[in-house]
Amino acid sequence: MKIYLYGIREDEKEYLRQWDAAHPDVEIDYTHEIFTEETAELAEGSDGVVMVQTQPYSRAALEKLHDFGISKISVRNVGLDGFDFQDLRDFDFSLTYVPVYSPNAIAEHTTSLILRLLRRVPEFDKKFANADFRWFPTIGEEIHGKTVGIIGTGHIGSVVARIMAAFGAKVIAYDIAPNPALENLGIYVDTLDELLEQSDIITIHTPLAKKDIHMIDADAFAKMKDGVIFINCARGGLVDTDALIKALDSGKIGGAALDVLESENDVFQKKFDKIEDVKDPQFQALINRDNVIITPHTAFYTTTAVHNMIFDSLNDNQRMLDGKAPKYPVDISVE
Ligand code: COI
Repeated sequence: MKIYLYGIREDEKEYLRQWDAAHPDVEIDYTHEIFTEETAELAEGSDGVVMVQTQPYSRAALEKLHDFGISKISVRNVGLDGFDFQDLRDFDFSLTYVPVYSPNAIAEHTTSLILRLLRRVPEFDKKFANADFRWFPTIGEEIHGKTVGIIGTGHIGSVVARIMAAFGAKVIAYDIAPNPALENLGIYVDTLDELLEQSDIITIHTPLAKKDIHMIDADAFAKMKDGVIFINCARGGLVDTDALIKALDSGKIGGAALDVLESENDVFQKKFDKIEDVKDPQFQALINRDNVIITPHTAFYTTTAVHNMIFDSLNDNQRMLDGKAPKYPVDISVE
């Protein structure tokens, strides 16, 4: 049995070596390249493939895998928005994902972004670099006592809810399918609008379904409290970035922290000589503000998460190839 992995980074290699050593019956091979029409042929002769990328998975590339007789795909991450499920159905693929590699990784990153905005860390860093160690006027705010609105209460959102409650925030939440494990906390509001209107801090933790593209648009920003703090560690496409930029320009938004951007594939995971060389206009419109923090899709990026992404994806790919039920199957029959 041979499993081929795409997009392997240096930080994944040790975990890959460990999995390999524990599974002498499985042959594994990999490339640093992501999965594209050009690289699809690297998997020829393999039985299953494991991949992760923020770029879309192209139909033409998937068709090539199908032509090589490969039908088992495992992704090492949670978000599935890079796939058109129709393509997977057309070529008869089975897909697994890793839905709980580390909700804490993203929830803790979210928390750090909230704290960095509330305690005005970007401004203090700038002052510090200029040997200015005075307090005034860079006074901060506390999470304690604030209303924190959480959109999406799956694995990640529910950890954020618990962390925020531990800080002494009033937590409110909205989800189209409330999480039974949280219902006894009495945190759910009935509509997204209620959450937008009541929250001092809003953080979003939903997948990017087609219907949710630009869920947070100009209308949504208009409903928010003046000076709201807005965090997105989920998917760039959930937010209309131009509307966000306008809301920052007008002062409606007090601060925004973004781990994901609509146009991140042109920017993140690349090295530029200097920030000015990044040609993306939305990135440039966001970056030079004291009340905006951008992190390059690193909320997930911890050793715990990366270990689990490698192990869980390979385990499930092997299970499928062995004809067993995978632990984390994706139902590709629904969009
Ligand atoms: C995900 O798990 O979906 C992420 O956003 C992480 C990234 C490696 C794609």
